[in-house]
Amino acid sequence: MHSLKALTLLGTLCFSVLANAHNTPFKIEEASIRDIQAAFDKKTLTSRQLVEWYVNRIHEHDHHYNSVSEINPDIFKLASKADAERKAGKKRGPLHGIPILLKDNIATGDKMHNTAGSLALYSDACKPTRDSTIASKLRKAGALILGKACMSEWANFRTSDGSGAEYKDADGWSGRCGQTRNAYNITRSPSGSSGGPAVAVALNFVTASIGTDTDCSITAPAAIHGLVGIRPTVGLISRDMVIPIAHSQDTPGPMAKSVTDAAIMMEVLAGQDSRDPLTNMPPVPKKPVKYTNYLKKNGLRGARIGIPRHVFWEKWNRPEEKAVAEQAIQKLKELGATIVDPADILTIDRISDMSYGLGGLEYTLLYYEFKQDIQAYLAKLKKQCPMKSLSDLIQYNKDHADVEMPLFKQEVFEISQNTTNLNDPFYQKTLRLVRKLSGSQGIDAAFRKYKLDAMFVPVDWAFFPPQPLAMAGYPQINVPIGTDDEGVPFAVSFYAPAYSEHKLIQYAYALEQATKARRPPTLL
Ligand SMILES: *[C@@H]1O[C@H](CO)[C@@H](O)[C@H](O)[C@H]1NC(C)=O
Ligand SMILES: *[C@@H]1O[C@H](CO)[C@@H](O)[C@H](O)[C@H]1NC(C)=O
Repeated sequence: MHSLKALTLLGTLCFSVLANAHNTPFKIEEASIRDIQAAFDKKTLTSRQLVEWYVNRIHEHDHHYNSVSEINPDIFKLASKADAERKAGKKRGPLHGIPILLKDNIATGDKMHNTAGSLALYSDACKPTRDSTIASKLRKAGALILGKACMSEWANFRTSDGSGAEYKDADGWSGRCGQTRNAYNITRSPSGSSGGPAVAVALNFVTASIGTDTDCSITAPAAIHGLVGIRPTVGLISRDMVIPIAHSQDTPGPMAKSVTDAAIMMEVLAGQDSRDPLTNMPPVPKKPVKYTNYLKKNGLRGARIGIPRHVFWEKWNRPEEKAVAEQAIQKLKELGATIVDPADILTIDRISDMSYGLGGLEYTLLYYEFKQDIQAYLAKLKKQCPMKSLSDLIQYNKDHADVEMPLFKQEVFEISQNTTNLNDPFYQKTLRLVRKLSGSQGIDAAFRKYKLDAMFVPVDWAFFPPQPLAMAGYPQINVPIGTDDEGVPFAVSFYAPAYSEHKLIQYAYALEQATKARRPPTLL
């Protein structure tokens, strides 16, 4: 957190409401991207003021939460430049002058680090030399990259035994940041691995953020922070210069306070990129999709929504929260949807068989891919970066066990290190099996059988069902629906086969507008 502390506070700028010449206040807290753009246009707010407000709020309050790993040292300059451009009539795009925070595994070619939470990459030598495609698309759309957000170290892919850590799976802990805390209740987990990006948006430390998801890493932290999180189809948004877990499942996506903000960000982020071949693979949409065209209040009318009771609802063991989510199903009906209940995924029990391979189907695949994918990422860093391979990272942790392994070890790294390569017939067989059980015989089969447009499931910190969705590389969006008795939100979520984001946005928007369940946390 050194660079954060090093940034000087700019006098007394802790106003929460900015007044214009006519004393019409503009409230930054909970403001949407469109609210902020309107305020820029009416000249009741500048990007510089907005950035100062966020940075001061982070300085004053983030020590309770530990959500921001570093603030862009150039952020004030960038904000002033955005203001000057707007004054000169130049608006780069829909995010012109809007501050965005990136999870600390998405590279920027500026003064900031990219570490996946690990001290092994926290050095000048291992700083990226160029923007990730995500960062460059954000800049082209006018966004200001405010900083980087803390994450569960290596996106929760270092330990299988986080029992020494404060939270299950070592959620929210990293050597780089220490423990990140839930924005709604600091005794509770921030969830992971995109915990920091969720906490920061929930607390209005920034307008929106970008997380990454391999299995629940966007949707779980978004759910427990009252946010809309989109896990896009794998291949819709480029993973260029994003520190990976596994190319079969990794997918970056927006975390925002509303479906509208998330849809605006999707339009900026989606699209083909020669640096990530999967973005060019059919059936990727040839033309960019205008996601904001799908923000329709009556968007659920006529939709067929399936309820996969088996596992996803039946095993969720929190009656009060469940009652709220059941009411949401009723709400879908009132909004004109046809509910197909139950609509089960028949392969779900086979998918979750943990006796397969190196510890279940999904993990077997991830173990093989991580070893190769992390090496490919490290090869893109400067020659001076001493980390070249997974074995270097393992050695680093051993050599720095006092700061990297005080709470948990690196069993996942060690199993991954033990794998061969992606030509191994066992890996190939596992990949085919995962695709079949999650996709063609799993989700696709259920969608065909019940003629569904989407499935509808709860997302809650206390409940981690197997995720055929993540294994198939399919998209998901969640909508806040309620708050538990410890003050922590939970969500409901729509999902569907590849490249259905436009439909999911449409359904989520209709439900969001009918429920408006997001409540901002009380700032400590
Ligand atoms: C790695 O493989 C060797 C040989 O098969 C085995 O003895 C060892 O337990 C494995 N280590 C891990 C961490 O899986
Ligand atoms: C926060 O969570 C703890 C349990 O971890 C609980 O005892 C406490 O009441 C919660 N606080 C609030 C304000 O709900």
